[in-house]
Amino acid sequence: MIRSIVRGVGTALPRRIMKNAEFETLVDTTDEWIVQRTGIRQRHVAAEDETTASLGEAAARAALANAGLTPADIDMIVLATSTPNNTFPATAVEIQERLGMRHGFAFDMQAVCSGFVYAVTAADSHIRSGLARRVLVIGAETFSRILDWSDRTTCVLFGDGAGAVVMEAQEQPGLNTDRGVLTSHLRSDGRHKSKLYVDGGPSSTQTTGHLRMEGREVFKHAVGMITDVIRDAFAATGYTADDLDWFVPHQANRRIIDASAHKLGIDPAKVIITVDRHGNTSAASIPLALCAAIADGRIKRGDLVMLEAMGGGFTWGAALVRM
Ligand code: ACO
Repeated sequence: MIRSIVRGVGTALPRRIMKNAEFETLVDTTDEWIVQRTGIRQRHVAAEDETTASLGEAAARAALANAGLTPADIDMIVLATSTPNNTFPATAVEIQERLGMRHGFAFDMQAVCSGFVYAVTAADSHIRSGLARRVLVIGAETFSRILDWSDRTTCVLFGDGAGAVVMEAQEQPGLNTDRGVLTSHLRSDGRHKSKLYVDGGPSSTQTTGHLRMEGREVFKHAVGMITDVIRDAFAATGYTADDLDWFVPHQANRRIIDASAHKLGIDPAKVIITVDRHGNTSAASIPLALCAAIADGRIKRGDLVMLEAMGGGFTWGAALVRM
């Protein structure tokens, strides 16, 4: 059967690093509070010339180089983002243009922090159905542009960045030991809309708006939703937490990650953490974490990796991938 394998990975981060201490001059907070409640120590913040499109392009170019491919080899781009350069056209199409691609097709996917898992699932579906052979899956965000910098309950949590993977069709035996995406499971529930949202948009206020979050409410639902969908992935494949080589969760909050891993019985040594360095980069956080662990030699070809995310909507999902 056709499987979607990960052939290359790449990232891009804004030049400017903002440490927690800088927030002490902006809002009533401390480095100690932020570290203790979230695990975040710093995040990257985009300059005016760094946009979702430019960061996404840079991550895409890095992933292509890592895969030994050029834009000519790609037939589809899916960009997971909630911070597009423009309301339309899709920022994915702008990235396509920046890459010099005159063929194929590109579109954005909007599932907030779950965007990368949704995009991987969309890419896998296109590949397995024969609609695409090689797909650039990009998660790129500039959340700094939609933050209320006077709201200490949200502005300390987020960062900017981009990560990308090249996924490719490959004939595999059709077993659990195959390389590629083995299973993925997506969920959403709009009843939770008001717990995490942006208070603006073209059709409602004709403004961009700012991120609003009831952090405690999000926290309360996060662990249950994350663990449910991961259990669905285990049930679909017969694998258990012991079989995982690595757990690459969405990087929102260290306490959510630790509690989810604990509830599932995943060895803490198998959990990839980058939230300390990047903050919550929404749709970019999983590819940024995945890439970091591949670059430092932890995640290797053949490893069984669980990707997982939960975010605004609420949306949530998990994908089990053999690298
Ligand atoms: N500095 C100091 N104090 C603060 C800060 C801050 N930056 N932010 C909030 N506080 C205060 C609150 O005002 C509150 O004070 P009060 O008790 O006087 O009212 C106190 O700290 C405790 O606040 P809580 O909200 O209960 O703190 P909690 O331990 O829940 O941590 C946090 C807050 C970090 C936001 C946590 O709830 C969280 O991580 N929630 C989930 C966020 C998340 O995962 N989002 C993921 C999806 S993101 C997406 O999809 C875009």
